[in-house]
Amino acid sequence: MAINRTSSHGEWSSRTAFILAATGSAVGLGNIWKFPYITGENGGGAFVLIYILCVIFIGIPIMLAEVYLGKRGRLNPIASIKYISEKENRSRNWQVIGLIGILAGILILSYYAVIAGWTMAYSVRTAFGTLNNIDAVGAATMFENLISDPERLLAWHTIFMIITTVVVARGVKSGLESAVVRLMPALLVLLLALVIFSSIEGKFYDGLRFMLYPDFSQVTWKTVLIAMGQAFFSLSLGMGALMVYGSYLSSDISIPQTCVIIALLDTIVALLAGLAIFPIVLSSGLEMTQGPGLIFQTLTVAFATMPGGQLFGTLFFILLIFAAWTSSISLIEPMIIWLIEKYNITRIRAATIAATFAWLIGIGTILSFNIGAEIKIFNMTIFELLDYLTSNILLPMGGIMITIFVGWLVAKENIDVELEIKSNILRFIWYFSARIIAPIAVIFVMLNALGLNLNIFS
Ligand code: PHE
Repeated sequence: MAINRTSSHGEWSSRTAFILAATGSAVGLGNIWKFPYITGENGGGAFVLIYILCVIFIGIPIMLAEVYLGKRGRLNPIASIKYISEKENRSRNWQVIGLIGILAGILILSYYAVIAGWTMAYSVRTAFGTLNNIDAVGAATMFENLISDPERLLAWHTIFMIITTVVVARGVKSGLESAVVRLMPALLVLLLALVIFSSIEGKFYDGLRFMLYPDFSQVTWKTVLIAMGQAFFSLSLGMGALMVYGSYLSSDISIPQTCVIIALLDTIVALLAGLAIFPIVLSSGLEMTQGPGLIFQTLTVAFATMPGGQLFGTLFFILLIFAAWTSSISLIEPMIIWLIEKYNITRIRAATIAATFAWLIGIGTILSFNIGAEIKIFNMTIFELLDYLTSNILLPMGGIMITIFVGWLVAKENIDVELEIKSNILRFIWYFSARIIAPIAVIFVMLNALGLNLNIFS
């Protein structure tokens, strides 16, 4: 029985450690950089509401399924699924889920590290006062200057990748766990401080209203699909990150409760990020629809013009580095344990190989902002292509296979043993979501990603 298997890579020292680590994976650039800007682009309240519904009805069921696979398999994503499919007398081909996940993780990390590098650059600039008194035009120029300088981007990208590698090379117990146990609470405190700052200095009521008042007149299926894709990315679903973290979970810990807590924390951080950012954007008379440059351009203007902005700006960017860092650790971990188990190499060596791989691909992203901007594949720059391939194809594909595999192909008794959902109603909701709602919803994301417009509303 799966219950007695343990991971050869060690286990979390406590349930709290797992929750912190998984939350560290979930909370990242997706919450603090992406959530505010796509909420801004998609009209605010209605988008936030749909996002939350997606987290509840799609995200949580898939998360349960993914953590379940890891906790039962106790190996790297490929081997875990192979092991479970053998036990369940199912085709071993399902292990392709693990392969897609490992690939997706490395591809996401390759550009994630570049954006995290921007954050590092901005934290240094803010700390040294370079951004003091800057205006909107100056901020735009400064951002342009940064992204158009491949050498500087490469330097930051490299530094970020080295930090990630050093932590993961030290292993789960001494590296990952001690890092996140300290970082996650600090991150929450900093974010709360920023919200308080924002409520004093910014147009807090207007920001709150923008985020919470749902105006459905702008909502299309596309909005729903974007919200769902964001739920996927933000909860770190569909690529084996939570499967790996689940494999370090000791057998006495309840999966459903833990997953609900993680999803809740992730959503709270995204909402807090919005609460911190929107009031400042509004009080500075800046644009909600700024796009990916929102925090790098708009917010620096806001910080520059506000009293205490240098300190809070610095703290904000440092917070974002921490968040990106704990996410990147989980992006690289599936490949690392796969390398260790498959090729029997040391953790340090596996971490170095995986990071080098991601680092090399990341150069493509760096160049796509400057000298390689003209290189287009399917009409996309290398960065856009990587983002498209991972967010719109690989993660949803992984997610749908995970939910179908667990929902339909694993024997119910075996799931019930691990999940231990006592209430009949909750068990029904779980099976209904995992078998029906989540797979169908994810198919919509996939079709959207393929460019098919499902205009059911019109
Ligand atoms: N969830 C992370 C974020 O919001 C990104 C991520 C995606 C991490 C997939 C791991 C796996 O930034």
